[in-house]
Amino acid sequence: MAPVKFHDKYFVPYISSAEIQEKVVELARRLNEDYKGKRPLFISVLNGSFMFTADLFKYLTIEAEVCFIKLASYKGTKSSGQILTAIGLDTDINNRDIVILEDIIDTGKTMTEFLRQINHQQPTSLKIAVLLHKPTATAYPLTIDYTCFSIPDKFVVGYGLDYDGLGRNLSQLYQLDEDNED
Ligand code: IMP
Ligand code: MG
Repeated sequence: MAPVKFHDKYFVPYISSAEIQEKVVELARRLNEDYKGKRPLFISVLNGSFMFTADLFKYLTIEAEVCFIKLASYKGTKSSGQILTAIGLDTDINNRDIVILEDIIDTGKTMTEFLRQINHQQPTSLKIAVLLHKPTATAYPLTIDYTCFSIPDKFVVGYGLDYDGLGRNLSQLYQLDEDNED
């Protein structure tokens, strides 16, 4: 597969669509098992998680609900450190089994801020499921309960993830080509 270019940067093929689907199916299988009879509420973090959430949901066979929040911290390829809540939580999470769905945990700041926002509420259980985790970049202490892929600290696009708004529509993941920049 050929590299792709968004704005000023080139990206090379990284994780195929088939590999992603395999991991998403495997995650759904685990969730179907772990939440049997429980009707969990999934909280999906927009924008990046929309494709991951949509695919995962097709493979869930348990009773499950989903709602969306929108947090943003990224400017270009670097975390800005400032977390913006563009769409907040509109659903009561008290006495619910909660699973947060994130596209990627990088520094962990976004997730830590969201957990802080909801820490006065009392869910029955709260777990975090992510498509991607960059363990060497994660600076905040977080327990991630379900991870599809652990990846190195390199910027990626595709499958919902963007570089300055572009690349979300790719069905596979691409990695920044650091040797080929304009
Ligand atoms: P954190 O707060 O540093 O953990 O960043 C989390 C958010 O930044 C994710 O939800 C993504 O939206 C975005 N992000 C982090 N790393 C990448 C990347 O490699 N590509 C695209 N977006 C990313
Ligand atoms: Mg995100």
